[in-house]
Amino acid sequence: MEIFHISAECYPVAKVGGLADVVGALPKYQSNAGHRVRVIIPCYETKFKKENEFECVHWGEVKLGNFNFPFSVLKEKTDKLGFELYLIAISDLFDRNEVYGYQDDIERFVSFQIAALDWIIGREDNPDVINCHDHHTGLIPFMMLYCNKFRRLKNVPSMITIHNGLYQGQFGFDKLYYLPEFDLANVKVLEWDNCINSLAVAIKCAWAVTTVSPSYLNEINYSSNGLESLFNMVRYKSKGILNGIDIEVWDPANDQMLKKGYSIKNFEKGKQENKEKLCKLFDLDPTKPLFSFIGRLLEEKGADLLPQAAALALSENYKQINILILGSGNTPIENQLNSLLQDYKGNYNTFIGYNEELAHVIYAGSDFLLMPSRVEPCGLNQMYSLRYGTIPIVRRTGGLKDTVFDFGDDGNGICHDQASVGDICYSIQRATKLYDDKKLLSTIRIKGMKTDHSWEHVCQEYIEMYKLIINKK
Ligand code: GLC
Repeated sequence: MEIFHISAECYPVAKVGGLADVVGALPKYQSNAGHRVRVIIPCYETKFKKENEFECVHWGEVKLGNFNFPFSVLKEKTDKLGFELYLIAISDLFDRNEVYGYQDDIERFVSFQIAALDWIIGREDNPDVINCHDHHTGLIPFMMLYCNKFRRLKNVPSMITIHNGLYQGQFGFDKLYYLPEFDLANVKVLEWDNCINSLAVAIKCAWAVTTVSPSYLNEINYSSNGLESLFNMVRYKSKGILNGIDIEVWDPANDQMLKKGYSIKNFEKGKQENKEKLCKLFDLDPTKPLFSFIGRLLEEKGADLLPQAAALALSENYKQINILILGSGNTPIENQLNSLLQDYKGNYNTFIGYNEELAHVIYAGSDFLLMPSRVEPCGLNQMYSLRYGTIPIVRRTGGLKDTVFDFGDDGNGICHDQASVGDICYSIQRATKLYDDKKLLSTIRIKGMKTDHSWEHVCQEYIEMYKLIINKK
């Protein structure tokens, strides 16, 4: 099968969050399963771009109203990622360090989508399927169906995979002229809540809609930032497919980012060694349980609850536990987290920023991982943490509900229902008790390490979904 993935992120080329991890791994496993897989993302000024060689395979011009943006399509020369990587280089719009967060993000991603289709249609063969990811690529299914320029792609099945429905890429109809020409009788398709809503457009036009976990699919029918009724309407073509993880990148036995790896056979010793190193690095107490948080410091992730929860847990159990935070995001949350440093020196620390290598070291060296998310479409960190023998403490929501089960019910982690300071602290208390019961602690860790979340199995579910829509042609 010839599969095209189009996305804003792909690890290790450009990463902001879990979307990159999925788009960097799923295609690799699909390739291994014998498919020809191409991944298309914008060409940002990232380290990967600077350090690797590319060849130009196509060039053209995107017309966005009165603006013309020349672009080229660059192919990574070696296919070393396990799939074919193509970067859409529009220097005026993407020659920047960050992936998102610019005033002209709409212009950037509309242009990217037009350029991607321009290249695809310029090729001789049509793809078997185009898998779009999140709202940055949400206009593609529309343009394939309705824009005159891309008419030849009308019968190519498209699928939208939703990694986070909170972000929808809305913009006003004053920018309608950005889109290549189409019959205005179809303009209604673009509309949701009086504006052009890229994610809604994709949900309407794609042949199939997937979310990154089954529980998230159920939840968005009740709560999805205004799209609830739309999700209800498209249930017939929707499916929740739980993400996998790249078990080659996330392998405690062969992790290049750890000084010393460990497997399930020697995990107690291995984790202890990693914990000691980590505690030394962050001035923490290696004899006490270590609770970590890794991720974006956003309300959606429950990170706003962390300063109060940490202060409470540390003051009650001060010197009984350690807490370590790695992440960046909302500035007030960052400041509040840093303001605790003075009071709990020796048992609390933060690293404000993004650091992939440190994340590996923290998974290996921690005892528990906190994920108090309000919304979690899938969540990969709990899966990484399970694989590294670190017990996840999660709020029961989205993909967390599908992957972590309370040890009280014979599960692999600790669960609570509310995204609240009280629930987090109660879970920390339970974890602290569990930490003293070494036998039970080991049993739960082993259960986690044995959980198989590899893409190897999951990627087949994507293929089944593609087959289903291809057969509808
Ligand atoms: C987004 C979601 C996260 C999911 C990831 C990959 O970052 O917030 O829950 O795991 O995408 O699908």
